[in-house]
Amino acid sequence: MTAFEYLKKTEKQRTDELLQFLSFASVSAQSKHNKDVAACADWLKAHLTRIGFKTELYPTKGHSVVFAEYFVDKKLPTVLYYGHYDVQPPEPLDLWKTPPFKPDIRDGYFYARGATDDKGQTFTHIKGLEAIIKTTGTLPINVKFMIEGEEEIASANLPAFMKKNKKLLNADICVVSDTAQFNKTTPAVTFGLRGISPAELFVYGPNRDVHSGSFGGSITNPANALCQMVAQLHDKNGKVAIPGFYKDIKPAPKWERKQFKKLPHSDAKYQKSLGVPALAGEKGFSTLERIWIRPTLDVNGITSGYQGEGSKTIIPAYASCKITMRLVPDMDPDDVANKLEKFLKKIAPKSVRIKLNKFHGGKGVNVPTDGPWLEAAASAIKAGFGKTPVFMKEGGSIPVVTDFKDLLGLDTLLIGFAQHDDNIHSPNERFRIVDFEKGCKTGAALPTELSKVKA
Ligand code: BES
Ligand code: MN
Ligand code: MN
Repeated sequence: MTAFEYLKKTEKQRTDELLQFLSFASVSAQSKHNKDVAACADWLKAHLTRIGFKTELYPTKGHSVVFAEYFVDKKLPTVLYYGHYDVQPPEPLDLWKTPPFKPDIRDGYFYARGATDDKGQTFTHIKGLEAIIKTTGTLPINVKFMIEGEEEIASANLPAFMKKNKKLLNADICVVSDTAQFNKTTPAVTFGLRGISPAELFVYGPNRDVHSGSFGGSITNPANALCQMVAQLHDKNGKVAIPGFYKDIKPAPKWERKQFKKLPHSDAKYQKSLGVPALAGEKGFSTLERIWIRPTLDVNGITSGYQGEGSKTIIPAYASCKITMRLVPDMDPDDVANKLEKFLKKIAPKSVRIKLNKFHGGKGVNVPTDGPWLEAAASAIKAGFGKTPVFMKEGGSIPVVTDFKDLLGLDTLLIGFAQHDDNIHSPNERFRIVDFEKGCKTGAALPTELSKVKA
């Protein structure tokens, strides 16, 4: 039996197992789910053990790293697979058609929080490797898995784990499936990710909520002030107005912009898919350039005062908002956070106090666009999807990919199987069953392709 035949024969069982994996509420950002995160790690460890891996849970200051190894022969290349078993918070819950942690199958999709980001995608490699082990009794490469539980909270404890365990993680190449295909009929290899710098702004007004009639007009309303400040973060050309924000960026190489133009992208379709009356962004750049190779600043949430039913006439005591800046590879997350802080202090009205909490971020990264590893990955995708992948970039961030290069000297193959309408980080997250199946086939084809590369 071939690995592909094994996959075909075991589809039902594989589906059941994926549904089990998806049923853990492994929300890393919410401490009420710490037990669920840990239970998910245990399940994953047990699953990998059953397939034949030597496994170990490595505790960190936060959630554990699931590590697994299948060693065959030191003459063979060693491939380090990365994935994350933590998921984003599922809220708002009332917008889910079926509950986020009661996985459902309908209209050709798996529906659950984490279905594609990143449990379903991580599972494709686990099942692809299982298919080879079960049909040949071994693997054509040495395999290591590092599956973390804190990706969705910026992997703050992972660099320390990696520094401490360099030998354990020793490999020739990394493989990550945590990105998207170009579209429903076009698989892709991704050659760059944006970085991220997250922060939270607090604007403090009076020492308590006060009556907006008795006090209104005499003090600055922190909600008004916050909005005025946020409004000054962009200029009329859609550029970020923080002084020095673009200072470290080198212009994109010509071939890159040319490559983007070749991709089958349509602004009209993109606009329609989002239901917006018009697209917008930094002047002078195309949509794909705006998403992939230009830095941005976005408010992710604003909170202040009363939001309940009816009216309440107050001046709130404070206002706050969460901000993320997406960065291109030359930008440093701490440096841009400091520039944001300096600018906010400058533009804040003297009649309020402000505070900016800066969080751990990650640098953007470019990975090679050619070479034998990349050709191997492209061949595996061709085998799994029946189509040659295109090369694209991605606007999202996977902090560990930079760490692979900087801490371990390793390049990464970014071969994601998601679609842009899979609703990651949003209600009704889903993974197309055909993408899962083709992903598993790619996972089963990849080891042989990689084994041909001389490390
Ligand atoms: N898998 C995503 C990154 C991604 C998103 C890749 C879309 C391709 C397409 C990853 O899980 C993610 O969400 N990363 C966070 C990182 C952050 C929390 C530090 C992100 O980009 O917001
Ligand atoms: Mn992810
Ligand atoms: Mn994510």
